[in-house]
Amino acid sequence: SNLKYAIKDSIGYVIINREPQLNALNQETLDELQDIFKHFNSDDHVRGIILTGAGHKAFAAGADIKEFMDLSVIQARWLSERGHIIFTDLIEASPKPVIAAINGYALGGGLEMALACHIRIASENAKMGLPEVSLGLIPGYGGTQRLPKLIGKGQAMQMILTGDMIDAQRAYELGLVNEVIAQDKLIARAEEILQKIFTRSRVAVANAIAAINAAEDKQQNGNKVEMDAFGHLFGTDDFKEGVSAFLAKRTPNFE
Ligand code: HXC
Repeated sequence: SNLKYAIKDSIGYVIINREPQLNALNQETLDELQDIFKHFNSDDHVRGIILTGAGHKAFAAGADIKEFMDLSVIQARWLSERGHIIFTDLIEASPKPVIAAINGYALGGGLEMALACHIRIASENAKMGLPEVSLGLIPGYGGTQRLPKLIGKGQAMQMILTGDMIDAQRAYELGLVNEVIAQDKLIARAEEILQKIFTRSRVAVANAIAAINAAEDKQQNGNKVEMDAFGHLFGTDDFKEGVSAFLAKRTPNFE
């Protein structure tokens, strides 16, 4: 298996487990990512997900370049589309918060996987980049679309056209990662963020993710998604509990 996974304290852990290959994403790993995210997205015991890489050197150093040589144009087009489907439909559209804990190199498809997550935090030794142009390629797992939205078109152009890596501090300055954490505290910090989110209403959190995602979806009217979700939430028990708790000056007890 190319992944390790576990569930503990309502957190689903997904760990890319190809340490000798710097957690490069081969096609088998994509299959397994698809399965585990499907499973975690529908498992009520999981309220949030941490995605990270095994070891201390890499989150994921990209798609597995060793698999590239044999791909036809049609197969490469499909590989890209499969990655898009998995990252968009199962990671970005997950109703549960997904945190990328970037514990080392996040390059190419590895960074693109992190870009599909809802929140990114990085260890101090992390290095990030989209080096595909150095292989005669361009990002193929959503990097040309998500990076400009996150850090602005000009900075994204520079990263994608130069293929240069940036360090964690620079990624923080650009807004590519939310926080920079010592390597040995990275997962604990991701857990802490999720546990805070778990104190909030699960249905509200899921609707917030959907509304934020809708802003970037050309098929949807984001304002309408927000208004519909806002109205919908007034019909939930969590809303009644949240507002009653506020008025009674007590902590809400959701669900
Ligand atoms: C396959 C990889 C790999 C990758 C590293 N390895 N990255 N194998 N695919 N993306 C393997 C190496 O071949 C090597 O295996 C082992 O991992 C250790 O890597 P080294 O290069 O020896 O380590 P180091 O010198 O420390 O350099 C680290 C590195 C470098 C800077 C991260 O490995 C590197 O540049 N990797 C490629 C990064 C990259 O170009 N990624 C983008 C891929 S394209 P052996 O067997 O030799 O020990 C992409 C497209 C996505 O992601 C879209 C697809 C549709």
